Amino acid sequence: MKGIVFTEFLDLVEDKFGIEMVDRIIEQSELQSGGAYTSVGTYDFSEMLKLLKNLSSNTGIAIDDLLLVYAEHFFSVLEKSYPLFFEMYSDPIEMLASIENHIHVEVIKIYPDAELPTFELVEKTDDSLIMIYKSSRAMHHFGLGLMNKTFQHFNTTASIVLEKIKNDGTEVKFIINKN
Ligand code: HEM
Repeated sequence: MKGIVFTEFLDLVEDKFGIEMVDRIIEQSELQSGGAYTSVGTYDFSEMLKLLKNLSSNTGIAIDDLLLVYAEHFFSVLEKSYPLFFEMYSDPIEMLASIENHIHVEVIKIYPDAELPTFELVEKTDDSLIMIYKSSRAMHHFGLGLMNKTFQHFNTTASIVLEKIKNDGTEVKFIINKN
């Protein structure tokens, strides 16, 4: 997993819960990297999982809810870092339908070691989309947060329903309807 995912995560934890919480979860997680992340580095996903689990047990907030809030923060990082991707689209459904065949394809060119999910397109209309998320990282709520923000970016909203195809969250159907 790219270092920027770790550095932005710890920045947000510091913002919301204070630097003591950052130090505490790093200590509790017994990380191989020691928790000294750089945005350009690449680190094991298991470290993110440990940080999330410890933040969840210290705050009583479920991991999926932490991922949802984190994705909303990460979206603004994407907006600032990759404005071209946003300028190329004028519609949220078009943008979301293009993650698999365009956006993440470009991401893997920039970061060949990025670990990205796949989104299989099942059905698409002008104002609805059904996609199947697949990833060993089970970060579907990170996807949900990014999707919510994508609609907000285009000054609209959507109702998004998640149906787990696999219980461990590695395969999830997203049913998206623009409001
Ligand atoms: C992960 C880039 C838009 C879904 C990532 C990662 C990057 C990235 C760099 C981390 C990969 C790693 O750590 O190895 C981008 C860029 C985008 C974009 C540049 C647009 C400008 C989206 C959108 C979605 C999405 C709109 C909405 C569904 C995900 C998910 C992950 C991810 C769910 C977590 C990894 C996983 O589940 O396996 N993306 N992304 N991305 N992205 Fe995107």
